[in-house]
Amino acid sequence: METIVRIDTLRDHVGETVTIRGWLYNKRSSKKLVFLEVRDGSGIVQAIASRSDIGDELFAVADHMAQETSLSVTGEVRAHPKQEGVFELAVKSLSVIGAVIGEYPISPKDHGTDFLMDHRHLWLRSRRQNAILKVRHEIVKSIRDYFDNHGFTLVDAPIFTPNACEGTSTLFETDYHGDKAYLTQSGQLYSEAAAMSLGKVYCFGPTFRAEKSKTRRHLAEFWMVEPEVAFMDLDGDMALAEDFLVYVVGRVLENRKEELKILERDTKLLERVQGPFPRIRYEEAIKVLQDAYDLRKSSGTLVVQSDGAVERRPEFGDDFGADEETVISSAYDRPVIVHRYPASLKAFYFKRDPEDSRLALGMDVLAPEGYGEIIGGGQREDLLENLEKGIEAHKLPREAFEWYLDLRRYGSVPHAGFGLGVERTVAWTCGLGHVRETIPFPRMLNRLGP
Ligand code: 4AD
Ligand code: MG
Repeated sequence: METIVRIDTLRDHVGETVTIRGWLYNKRSSKKLVFLEVRDGSGIVQAIASRSDIGDELFAVADHMAQETSLSVTGEVRAHPKQEGVFELAVKSLSVIGAVIGEYPISPKDHGTDFLMDHRHLWLRSRRQNAILKVRHEIVKSIRDYFDNHGFTLVDAPIFTPNACEGTSTLFETDYHGDKAYLTQSGQLYSEAAAMSLGKVYCFGPTFRAEKSKTRRHLAEFWMVEPEVAFMDLDGDMALAEDFLVYVVGRVLENRKEELKILERDTKLLERVQGPFPRIRYEEAIKVLQDAYDLRKSSGTLVVQSDGAVERRPEFGDDFGADEETVISSAYDRPVIVHRYPASLKAFYFKRDPEDSRLALGMDVLAPEGYGEIIGGGQREDLLENLEKGIEAHKLPREAFEWYLDLRRYGSVPHAGFGLGVERTVAWTCGLGHVRETIPFPRMLNRLGP
């Protein structure tokens, strides 16, 4: 009887004859030997076919096999003579399952990113993309495990929504049987409702932003996990974000060593992701930016914009873009939490700081190495009157938020939560230069396909 196994279990079958099913990843041959690199999703194995063992006919099949042909190969499992932990297959027989029609578009030579993105459905088969997908899976699983093991209940939020959560400028509008509806920007408001039932909840799903941003960290569709906790304040929120992030990064380090090696990730940098994370106020962050500006000014290296204007000194009220976040986080070897932003920069639902009403009780977690904001959240306004003012100040349609205001009418409590973007977290842990490789089929400003 034929024993069919996956490549990652070959170590348990040394000396046995087994069958692998997969695709041809690469091939080298000489007169007497063909080296077939076969991948099956769990790994890559080198299958060595020798003319004298399998005969001229099968040898010719192996020798002419095109990249990405699907095949079944049977052979004896051997430990690699030189590399420890590596196993090979001495081929006894093989058969083609699906031939390659025409030429496989992605050859081992270098291709441009646009070309690869256009062939994303095939690009996913490459060793690097395979590794990234596995890290993403580990991150998603560890997120669920963290919350499931800490008393949270998963409550899914809707994707069609009647109202904005994160400002009206980034909404995707759709026609909902003649009414306007929007693709959700965040499940937060629904998580808040669920937290008033279950105490500790999280939602986890795709979210949408119609931002006209073409940066390396913006997607039009991305996945966000959003915990929400009743009776929690900003300090509790920061502590939760820290404990959660340490766990998620720890799980990747523990379970995805092989993939991080393929991605050539410097894991020492990830090992430093331990609590406590530094916590700095927005105003301290502005001071850091001002100092950096003053230094550039005195050394004559201020940035001149394309319109000829020289950059100006950062001041209270400025928002942080990628460059500012990089300057702030570069002082630390682990994620840094920036809290108490000016309320004018933040969404309508934030509670004001009772000690300084200009500030919102919000926080962002900035990842190291220039990866920027990966978590945003804070304490919510729990008083009806203040929340009504917030809705008005942001010129939001009151009717659409009546249900949300009910949460402040019937037993309102202090509560807080945050959202972590999965793709930015994958980009950081994998050490990637762009979020487009962190999601199977990215949706970006200029890309809706494949
Ligand atoms: O800071 P944001 O906009 O926060 C919220 O949506 C809150 N309602 C979350 C909450 O408190 N429940 O987004 C949270 C995170 C960001 O830190 C970032 O990681 C990610 O979502 N994110 C994006 N990721 C990829 N592309 C985009 N366009 C993103 N916008 C936000
Ligand atoms: Mg944010």
